[in-house]
Amino acid sequence: MRSVQIKPGIYWVGVNDRFTQFFEGLWPIGEEGVSYNSYLLVDEKNVLIDLAKSIKTDEFFEQIEQIIPVSKIDYVVINHMEPDHTGILTVLKKIAPHATILISEKGVKMLKAFYHIDENVKPVKDLEELRIGEKLLKFYYTPFVHWPETMMTYEVTHKVLFSCDGFGGYGALRGVLFDDECKDKDFYIKEMLRYYANIVATFSTPVLKAIEKLSSLPVQIIAPSHGLIWRENPGIVVDLYKKWAQYASSPAEKGVTLLYGSMYGNTERIMSSLLNGISKSGIAVDVFNVTQTHVSYILASLWKNRGVVIGAPTYEGSLFPPMADVLHMASVKHVQFKTAAIFGSYGWSGGASKRIREIIEPLKWQIVGVFDINGSPTNEDLQKIEEFGYDFARKIMEQP
Ligand code: FEO
Repeated sequence: MRSVQIKPGIYWVGVNDRFTQFFEGLWPIGEEGVSYNSYLLVDEKNVLIDLAKSIKTDEFFEQIEQIIPVSKIDYVVINHMEPDHTGILTVLKKIAPHATILISEKGVKMLKAFYHIDENVKPVKDLEELRIGEKLLKFYYTPFVHWPETMMTYEVTHKVLFSCDGFGGYGALRGVLFDDECKDKDFYIKEMLRYYANIVATFSTPVLKAIEKLSSLPVQIIAPSHGLIWRENPGIVVDLYKKWAQYASSPAEKGVTLLYGSMYGNTERIMSSLLNGISKSGIAVDVFNVTQTHVSYILASLWKNRGVVIGAPTYEGSLFPPMADVLHMASVKHVQFKTAAIFGSYGWSGGASKRIREIIEPLKWQIVGVFDINGSPTNEDLQKIEEFGYDFARKIMEQP
């Protein structure tokens, strides 16, 4: 994509990443891609806000050169030190060595640790302002959205909030930069939820604090460092992030995430009956075979649904390992306030449901039903389980 002017003298100069298979080395983006949005402000002083991962370096600098020589950059604002926004910094410093890096006080030490840079670095304080000509920058510390050093930069004259990870999401740009030009916003919102559940969820309390801190700002454009730029109605993404952040401390939406794994089909048969019952209630349900779907996608569903059903066989006296991995990740991400049920088949000793309860115990999910079936389920078992599925879903639908 070529550089795009988003306000007078303010340009998007980012790059798309369709090469990386796993964001943070962990979360799949091979199909969806991601964008690293960088912004160039041209004024009496020229400012680059956030950079990109160390890919497509030539393309990144060509975008800037369409507007000004890279050597004419006076300031580089590092809102966040994670290398998806700073990877290009070392090369940039070679081309524009005099450029001053503006970073939060906590970021200074990280900058030194990651890139061994400590010259031409100016820490900025929370709420500090910097006039660069017609434009005025104001820095807002937003710690832990996503790392402790993270801040956002607000351009006062044109009311643009450069929010970095905040209000960002997966999904490479498809030739369209703005929400009002985008014909597949649902894709970006879905990928924003997955990004939230994967990357941001642990920091939901800091997200709510940041939203509160910024709430009085008149924002015309939210320009995050991943995904679409929101100018038609920037409040949409603020509301989404706020809603998802609240799921860390209260029940989420009235839907069910059904997780299962099966070795020879017995647990899968139980799952089918349970699913029949759940579906008869009319509630929305997402179904995942944990051996086939990456936990990244499962986390997004777990985060937004208040009902969880876990079905897995006993494996060597304990829990089917792929299910253990998913539940462990749910524990790492502090997925809480769930109403849950457990089922599975065992051959001799059992052990899966006990291990499930051990793993999720710190999350304090309310477990309302457990079905340990020896071998294959009987027709009576399946009938009973289907009825339970319906009752389980109704119970969730009737919650306040
Ligand atoms: Fe997009 Fe926390 O980096």
